[in-house]
Amino acid sequence: MPEGPVIQRMFAEVANGYDRANRVLSLGIDVLWRRQAAAIADVKPGERVLDVCAGTGDLSLHLSRLGASVIGADFCAPMLVHAERKATGKQGRPYFVCGDAMELPFRNGTFDLATVAFGIRNVVDPVAAMREMARVVRPSGRIIVLEFARPRVPVLGSLYLLYFRHVLPRLGRWISGSDNGAYQYLPDSVMQFPERGHFTELMTRAGLRSARFSMLSGGIAAVYRGEVES
Ligand SMILES: C[S@@+](CC[C@H](N)C(=O)[O-])C[C@H]1O[C@@H](n2cnc3c(N)ncnc32)[C@H](O)[C@@H]1O
Repeated sequence: MPEGPVIQRMFAEVANGYDRANRVLSLGIDVLWRRQAAAIADVKPGERVLDVCAGTGDLSLHLSRLGASVIGADFCAPMLVHAERKATGKQGRPYFVCGDAMELPFRNGTFDLATVAFGIRNVVDPVAAMREMARVVRPSGRIIVLEFARPRVPVLGSLYLLYFRHVLPRLGRWISGSDNGAYQYLPDSVMQFPERGHFTELMTRAGLRSARFSMLSGGIAAVYRGEVES
């Protein structure tokens, strides 16, 4: 696992091409995954939401369109520049702050819900980050994690692995115009990261209760949900 500053630099270097690469590499399905995560979060108008590792703000923007009052936090300012640009002029827009997931700049119990999309895998200590998310969410509030997983369906699984390991790194380099290893790091980190029941164990270790998951798109991604102790 690379150190935090290495991760920060890596995202800074791909920030300009990040959205374009996401849409092309996932064939646009990443948009649906964030919507599904928001649906599982069951976000209600007026709820206070913290979107951790917000990046270029796609999940934050979607949650605010659903009527939530959203703050997006990320430790990579160049990613947030794009989030800010996309939010500018939108009604009920999210606001963005620079901050580390492992040391969130908010008081205990500030939010009803905390989310993280495709970010927890990049955090040096995911359990510490989820503990921090739980700290800033009120008792009985929710934590939602959207992350890549590894499909187990026989044919889809093999095709996906072929694409993910061999095609995606080359395509990602080309689309993002960056040769800094970010699109090799993506499949490598997904292959090593705990998924399904192994990840819900981490949620429990972070102090969350009722940790459970739903698989998306045949197991390519997963949404995890846990609750803060009451
Ligand atoms: C793959 S991007 C995901 C961005 C966005 N959530 C999305 O759905 O597209 C991962 C983001 O996590 C951020 N990140 C990684 N480690 C972090 C940390 N410790 N604190 C805050 N942000 C972090 C990176 O800067 C990057 O913007």
